[in-house]
Amino acid sequence: MAELMTLSRYILQRKRNFEGATGEFTLLLSHIALAAKVVSRQVAKAGLLDVLGKTGEENIQGEEVKKLDVIANDLLKSLLNDLPMVAAIASEEEEDMIVTEAGREVGKYLVCFDPLDGSSNIDVDITIGTIFSIRKRKTAGKAATPQDFFAPGSEQVAAGYALYGSSTMFVYTTGDGVDGFTLDPSVGEFVLSHPDMRIPPGCKCLSANTNNRRNWFDGTCSFVDHVASGQDPAFQGTSARYVGTLVADVHRNLLTGGVFLYPADKKSKNGKLRLLYEAHPLAFIVEQAGGAATDGKRRILDIVADGLHTRVPLIIGNREAVDLYGRFAALEGG
Ligand code: AHG
Ligand code: MN
Ligand code: MN
Repeated sequence: MAELMTLSRYILQRKRNFEGATGEFTLLLSHIALAAKVVSRQVAKAGLLDVLGKTGEENIQGEEVKKLDVIANDLLKSLLNDLPMVAAIASEEEEDMIVTEAGREVGKYLVCFDPLDGSSNIDVDITIGTIFSIRKRKTAGKAATPQDFFAPGSEQVAAGYALYGSSTMFVYTTGDGVDGFTLDPSVGEFVLSHPDMRIPPGCKCLSANTNNRRNWFDGTCSFVDHVASGQDPAFQGTSARYVGTLVADVHRNLLTGGVFLYPADKKSKNGKLRLLYEAHPLAFIVEQAGGAATDGKRRILDIVADGLHTRVPLIIGNREAVDLYGRFAALEGG
């Protein structure tokens, strides 16, 4: 029988390569994977379980909250709250950070997450996901504060996502490449299916909400026109693909090659996406897979949040395409 390399076995094997590893990180990652499996189960049966639709509330982002947003958020909160190695968590769905009960003073990790990315796609059966980011806190012996989260993305020790698509996947990095696992529902385990993911050269997909064009700066319009013109050999095989679920768009572009943009525009000078829950973790993954991520000017992983819900423009994907966007933005704005 072929060897079943489950996520837990893989993490344990890797752990052996780290001097002094305590197993705490392994336990933390397994709990996030467990949350992903539970959310996946809910998503798969969503239409049968009365979990579709809105709660009628708005979150801190001013966006309507869906029932599945709440289910995923509550699940992650309760699983992480019990782990003594987690000092605090911050969620896209929560105004304030949460100091955990078990790890309040002793926890060495801080966890950020977007419990359900792509909320607008929940009710129409289109791929959604969960994104997470793990940092080590620098202070100890007292409850963490929001300042503990305000550090460059390059200080993340791990980041990943679960994708609830035609199959459920778990993709993560600890700064040593990117590995992807597919949920085998018959054994309830994530199994290694995409070892050492690398973004292929060539930009197969351009992903942007082009209906925002009326607000875009000239540099963004010129970049998108350049890609569509067919004049540049680098973009002759490029097609437009936009799911409207960031993590699904980034995942597809990671597998096929491509660039995703949600730029600054005349209405939203910081774009839409959130630094701690979306841009930092996905930038870490895409860089580890050989790609790049910027806000049009700066490397995303160099940017420090000034609030838990700081937003940031995001250009992410093949390095050549991200760099070219930056050149258009420098000349004409973007
Ligand atoms: P979330 O569902 O976590 O609030 O994130 C929504 C994001 C992201 O997933 C997606 O790329 C983007 O919103 C889509 O925005 P538009 O509908 O403005 O294109
Ligand atoms: Mn999101
Ligand atoms: Mn979300």
